Amino acid sequence: MDGLARLEYRGYDSAGVAMLDEGVLRTEKSAGKLANLRQALEERPISGDGAGIGHTRWATHGAPNDVNAHPHVDGNRRVAVVHNGIIENFAALRLELEDQGCKFLSETDTEVTAHLLGIEVAEHGDLVAAMRAVCKRLEGAFTLVATSVDDPGLVVAARRNSPLVVGRGQGENFLASDVAAFIAHTREAVELGQDQVVELRADSVSVTDYDGNPVEVNEYHVDWDASAAEKGGYEYFMLKEIIEQPRAVADTLLGRVSADGQLTLDEMRLSPEDLRSVEKIVIIACGTSYHAGLIAKYAIEHWCRIPCEVEVASEFRYRDPILNQQTMVIAISQSGESMDTLMAVRYAREQRAKVLAICNVNGSTIPRESDGVLYTHAGPEVGVAATKTFLTQLAACYLVGLYLAQVRGLKFGDEINAVIAQLATMPEQVERVLGTVEPVRELARSLADADTVLFLGRHVGYPVAMEGALKLKELAYMHAEAFAAGELKHGPIALIEDQLPVVVVVPSPKGRSVLHDKIVSNIQEVRARGARTIVIAEEGDESVRPYSDVLIEIPAVPTLLQPIVSTIPMQVFACELALAKGNDVDQPRNLAKSVTVE
Ligand code: F6R
Repeated sequence: MDGLARLEYRGYDSAGVAMLDEGVLRTEKSAGKLANLRQALEERPISGDGAGIGHTRWATHGAPNDVNAHPHVDGNRRVAVVHNGIIENFAALRLELEDQGCKFLSETDTEVTAHLLGIEVAEHGDLVAAMRAVCKRLEGAFTLVATSVDDPGLVVAARRNSPLVVGRGQGENFLASDVAAFIAHTREAVELGQDQVVELRADSVSVTDYDGNPVEVNEYHVDWDASAAEKGGYEYFMLKEIIEQPRAVADTLLGRVSADGQLTLDEMRLSPEDLRSVEKIVIIACGTSYHAGLIAKYAIEHWCRIPCEVEVASEFRYRDPILNQQTMVIAISQSGESMDTLMAVRYAREQRAKVLAICNVNGSTIPRESDGVLYTHAGPEVGVAATKTFLTQLAACYLVGLYLAQVRGLKFGDEINAVIAQLATMPEQVERVLGTVEPVRELARSLADADTVLFLGRHVGYPVAMEGALKLKELAYMHAEAFAAGELKHGPIALIEDQLPVVVVVPSPKGRSVLHDKIVSNIQEVRARGARTIVIAEEGDESVRPYSDVLIEIPAVPTLLQPIVSTIPMQVFACELALAKGNDVDQPRNLAKSVTVE
């Protein structure tokens, strides 16, 4: 239970344990925080004599309730399993298992693995072999950990694209998704590679690949203390969440294309007929989510040619917006609980508009009250400032735009596939940007005493500039303001004075060259008036170098997708500047992660 408590930051909508007790598999599961499971175990104690497994959940498939909580068991209660990740082909596997007579209790993708393991163990009597056979059938990202009544001292685990680490103790060994869970017992850890299976007993650890061949493992000593370990060794959750962005974007994109190459959005719930009848789209959201909406407008209008408005949720219902059955409202909310957005959703539904939610928290109020939902799979975001959830919201918005284009027959399949292929490279591009941000940190530290920072952008770079300014305000408590670069000459240019830092987001020179050339002129205009220009531009874009006091290079990506990479230096800049000022970046003053008041 202490181990689970240390992992609770990763997910806290439900929790459960399974233990072997005199040859019987006993489980206890509770929705809500771990405290509920503790309470349940006090009322119905389990005194196991074999291995035990436990899980704290961040729901992806199925609401966060007792039944969907892990562990899951097979029909004969011989095997129990916990799972992190998403099994992409679970729907097909579930149908196959139901045809064979398996009865499913939950709505999770995980339960298919319990039944598959149960069948394999019944046939071959060996949990390790069963795990190998099952993993070969799974698509997607997963860490699985299982026990079986047939071998009470054994735990078997496997991983693909999802973390799993072994803790080696004296006469005791541990498995967890990060070292935080066992650091109070041992600091000797073994890192598991991709597609590996581990067979763990109190006195032995053996690691093989999916074919049973022994593999070399990387053993290491953990030098974090327990509290740092929860944050993966980072001082703040925000730093960790910025680093998690490649994985978060990859998880959001995972499993969206069916075997026949069609884009499929699982929980969309809106029918193709509904989507074909849409005449107007209105995006509502707050704060960072609103910025994601502003970027979505460019993509949706470009790909689908459907008029798209974007509005701050708190203003929406007070202006008597024109909505009807042909209007599709997209509500973007990380938490799914922002009261402003929820009220706007209720209003839109009263006016008979169809509402699609884009949310990160499974089972939260906004998706529950909407007609359809597309979940981002960023995992729990603890830092108050949205980072990884913003990038995943962008990925989700692009998917919605492409899906609409597909359903309405506006683009050929190969055109849609080409954009999906570009999106699929984004996690790698994000990783590259993260590898080059050290100079941004230095720059931020050098600006800790500045009073004001201005941000400029055009096209999709304008909302990115707005996001950069918001991050700086909320974290560094500084005056920061964003302008559409073309608006400067209509007033704001009067603000420019000697050495004023101005951050400029430059579109690709290979995209719309007019846009690029115009912003290069805007950079020259502010520099001529004394501004210190900090320019974020595509690598190889030499035309901006002469006018940049600081040049931050980002990878070349298609124009509409650039916000996924150009936002990252802004996040790092604001975070580092706030840290240099001694601020708590996880809990900035006056703010809350989920704003449940209007
Ligand atoms: C800024 C930030 C907030 C949220 C806003 C909406 O970093 O996190 O601006 O984006 O409060 O919250 P959600 O997306 O939960 O509705």
